[in-house]
Order: sequence, then C-alpha cells, then structure tokens
Amino acid sequence: MSGALVADRITKTFAVSRGGTTRELRAVNDVSLAVAPGEIVGLVGESGCGKTTLSRIMIGIETATAGAITYDGRPVRTRAEWRALRRSVQSVFQDPFTALCPTMRIGDALAEPLAIHGICPPAERKERVSRMLEMVGLHPDMARRLPNQLSGGQRQRVNLARALMLEPKVLICDEIVSGLDVSVQAQVLALLIALQEGLGLSLVFISHDLRVVRYLCTRVVVMYMGEVVEQGDVEAVFDHPQHAYTRSLLAAIPDHSRLSAGATT
Ligand SMILES: Nc1ncnc2c1ncn2[C@@H]1O[C@H](COP(=O)(O)OP(=O)(O)OP(=O)(O)O)[C@@H](O)[C@H]1O
Ligand SMILES: [Mg+2]
Repeated sequence: MSGALVADRITKTFAVSRGGTTRELRAVNDVSLAVAPGEIVGLVGESGCGKTTLSRIMIGIETATAGAITYDGRPVRTRAEWRALRRSVQSVFQDPFTALCPTMRIGDALAEPLAIHGICPPAERKERVSRMLEMVGLHPDMARRLPNQLSGGQRQRVNLARALMLEPKVLICDEIVSGLDVSVQAQVLALLIALQEGLGLSLVFISHDLRVVRYLCTRVVVMYMGEVVEQGDVEAVFDHPQHAYTRSLLAAIPDHSRLSAGATT
C-alpha cells in the first residue's frame, strides 16, 4: 500500500544491569502495527509499556531485536533505506524544550532538514520556512528568535513545523500535547486535524489522555507490558473493550461514562 508504514512482529530487548547482574528486559514483544495512508492511529498504554520504544524503532532511532519495518510495501533495512524513510516518516517527541538546539535560531532549525536532505535550493529555504511557520500558526518573524524566547506551545508548534519541512507522509507524535495548557492543547490538536485533512498525513498519536485519543483517532492500539492486547476502531474499543486491561484503563478515567457514551470533549 502506498505510504503505509508497518511494524511487523517487532521485539526489542534491552540488557539492564542491577546489583552487578545483567538481565534482559523485553520492552516490546512481538508487536505489529500498521498505519494506512491518511489514518490517525492512537497508541495507548501505561507508562513503560513500550510505546516510545516501538515508535523509535519505526523511525530507525532504535534497532529491533527481531521483526521488520516496511514502508510502501518494502522492507527498510539498509542505511540508505532508513535515510529514505526519514524523508517520509517524521516524529515529534514530548519535550519541546530539549528537542531544539538552544543556540540555533528557529529559522535555521527549520531550514536544517532541507539542507541535510539537499532538497531545496538555499535561496528558496527562507521562503519555505516562512510558509511553514504560517502554516502552524506562527508569525514568520519567529524565524529570528531563539528557542528560549518562545512559550512552550510555540515551541511545540516549531517542533511540528520542523517535522513537516520535508513534507512527510507519516508523522509520529509521542505525547506532544501533555504539559501544554488546555487551550494550547486544543490549538495543537486542531492543527493536527487540519494537517491530516489538508496534506493527507497519517498520524501515530501516542498519548495517556484517552479523551484526546477518542477525539482525534480513528483507530486505537492498546499496549500492555510490551504487547498489543487490543486494537480496533476507536469507538468499538472504547465502548466495548474486550481486554481486562483496556477496561481498567478506561475505568481509570474519572468521567468514563461520558467518554464511552460517545462524548468527544
Ligand atoms: N535504552 C534503554 N535501556 C534500557 N531500558 C530501556 C531503554 N529504553 C526504554 N527502556 C525500558 O523499556 C520499557 C519501555 O519503555 P518506553 O519508553 O518504550 O515506555 P513508554 O510506553 O513510552 O512509557 P511512557 O508512557 O512512560 O513514556 C521501560 O521499562 C523502559 O525502562
Ligand atoms: Mg514514552
């Protein structure tokens, strides 16, 4: 399928040492996840269940112990294949403070991916940076600022803008709205929806906020202790959870009855 990103039976183990002995920690165990073009997939589960590890493997920051990543129906294995994938699959991680180099102006940070991939003539980069800043709702003058001269919400928009500079087909968002105040969260979510609709972008949306997942995503994948325990259409999973862990996850939401009755806010 064109533009489909697939994690096929991914396992990841880490060697962790404790008290002088080394043991194997299985962070991700035989997990498969497929993202179709234009789809918004939520990835949920308690802290430490392997969501970030899986997403890092899907963009090649981490290597899988077993399993394969395919993009556009082709396996991604060699350095050149991973490099090509990183033009089409981008990620934004939680912390908008550490993701940007503190001494690099926003404009240079946004132009950098273009320079790395050599895909836009230098004379045209400034214009492209301005357009992207406007697209994420920031004034083009922001290009002259340093990261510490922006608010948290503005920084998260810059991170999104940076990820979008290469016009990716898939965007992996790992907890990108947690830590932002509710009105900024709503703006960033509205922006994601506009991007998905306008650019046909696929999203993998990792979040602890199940209300946001229900609102934004079409499909949801539930992980528990390194494994996928349930997945399906967001309404089906939230209204009729099959697995005990999904039920306990949903029950932990204070106003769960409203959520499962189909409320979206
Ligand atoms: N580099 C590493 N070395 C050793 N263990 C690691 C490493 N990275 C992750 N882990 C472990 O793998 C497990 C999964 O971590 P991961 O960050 O994927 O969880 P998560 O689902 O993203 O959690 P959270 O919701 O808190 O972000 C955890 O037990 C974590 O401690
Ligand atoms: Mg994480």
